[in-house]
Amino acid sequence: QPAKAWSGRFTEPVSDLVKRYTASVFFDQRMARQDIRGSLAHAKMLARQGIIGAQDLADIERGMTQILGEIERGEFGWNLDDEDVHLNIEKRLTALVGDAGKRLHTGRSRNDQVATDIRLWLRDAIDQILALIGDFQKNLLDVAEANAATPMPGFTHLQVAQPVTFGHHLMAYYEMSRRDAERFADCRKRVNRLPLGSAALAGTSYPIDREFVAQELGFDEVCYNSLDAVSDRDFAIEFCAASALLMTHLSRFSEELILWMSPRVGFIDLADRFCTGSSIMPQKKNPDVPELVRGKTGRVNGSLIALLTLMKGQPLAYNKDNQEDKEPLFDTADTVIDTLRIYADMITGIRVKTDAMRDALKQGYATATDLADYLVKNGLPFRDAHEAVALAVRAADVKGCDLPQFSLDELRAAMAHVPGAAERVNDDVFAVLTVEGSLASRKHIGGTAPEQVRAAIARARSALD
Ligand code: ARG
Repeated sequence: QPAKAWSGRFTEPVSDLVKRYTASVFFDQRMARQDIRGSLAHAKMLARQGIIGAQDLADIERGMTQILGEIERGEFGWNLDDEDVHLNIEKRLTALVGDAGKRLHTGRSRNDQVATDIRLWLRDAIDQILALIGDFQKNLLDVAEANAATPMPGFTHLQVAQPVTFGHHLMAYYEMSRRDAERFADCRKRVNRLPLGSAALAGTSYPIDREFVAQELGFDEVCYNSLDAVSDRDFAIEFCAASALLMTHLSRFSEELILWMSPRVGFIDLADRFCTGSSIMPQKKNPDVPELVRGKTGRVNGSLIALLTLMKGQPLAYNKDNQEDKEPLFDTADTVIDTLRIYADMITGIRVKTDAMRDALKQGYATATDLADYLVKNGLPFRDAHEAVALAVRAADVKGCDLPQFSLDELRAAMAHVPGAAERVNDDVFAVLTVEGSLASRKHIGGTAPEQVRAAIARARSALD
């Protein structure tokens, strides 16, 4: 009896180093449940097709039930000598039920087996991620709703640009997360196809029923080319790409949280449970969690590149290179799942410092565009209005005040060099120079007017239900 499933052909054992180098059991045992599920569906099909006996199936089912229990109780003896999750479980099954265990692998290869396991595993991970994105969105909408009319400076180039509401700003991240969810849901369609039945690469001579197995395992369809089915991991790459984009969005959000929490900005405070102190500086409260989200985005990007690189030079069909797909994939799913969990909780702990946001609006002439638009509505061409307001801003800089603090005469005088500007400014100009006036005027779909922000939140809520 050979020590390994494939070792009868060999005249010498592999060294301990080679054994360790080629084994995957210490990471692919995470797919044990999927491996057993796949094996049970395969065995059921074999029995229905008369390829194994009814008693074999009963024995396999009994053995697998016991193995599942052992794994769940942490009693299963994972063994490096048996290389991977598949051979570990098959060996234990044979020890428990004898010949039926040896018949399980009929018409199957580890190549289609592992491809099936990964897809089952990834499908579960995607479903978990989609649910967690939903939790994140729900909490984000609550904070956005509470701040639908909270003014803050919107920035371009990190310079004060125009007033927006904090709720509107947060809803930008909602939109990103909506596209992220779409991407995962779309990726799931291509994950959810069954490789099993492709055997090693060319299919099998047994009268198998792949459609039955697909149905048993909840796959939407079968993979239609056996060579492709056992060898490509594009679905995993897609998952990592969707993950990298999701992390990129949360990394941008994190960068803002960090910036907003800096005392020099002071727009928000984060709940203590997401921050840590310093071992030397007693006053410190550091935003470690968002910083780590920003940092972990790097490892997810790295995993995407790792998988792309893994695939690019492989000839058809299966190559052992593909065993290297699992750690980056698992790590990516773990990172995304943990990050979403933390984020959903963290955003409920954002304390908004509305006074600081409003003060910041006074420092950057945030309503200058509104003044230009006012002149245009009174008949001045936009380029002239732009120049007139630029002169007013320069005068305000010299005087050390904000635009609404000018008297009507001062404002007119500042624009005097632009023909036609001064006489187009009247008392009603001060209404458009206020932050509230600026916000309220941007009332089209997608604009920052509080009524539109509330409409966007309502739309989002009904999409979530
Ligand atoms: N552990 C292997 C993997 O992860 C299973 C497939 C092995 N197949 C083979 N022909 N060596 O890809």
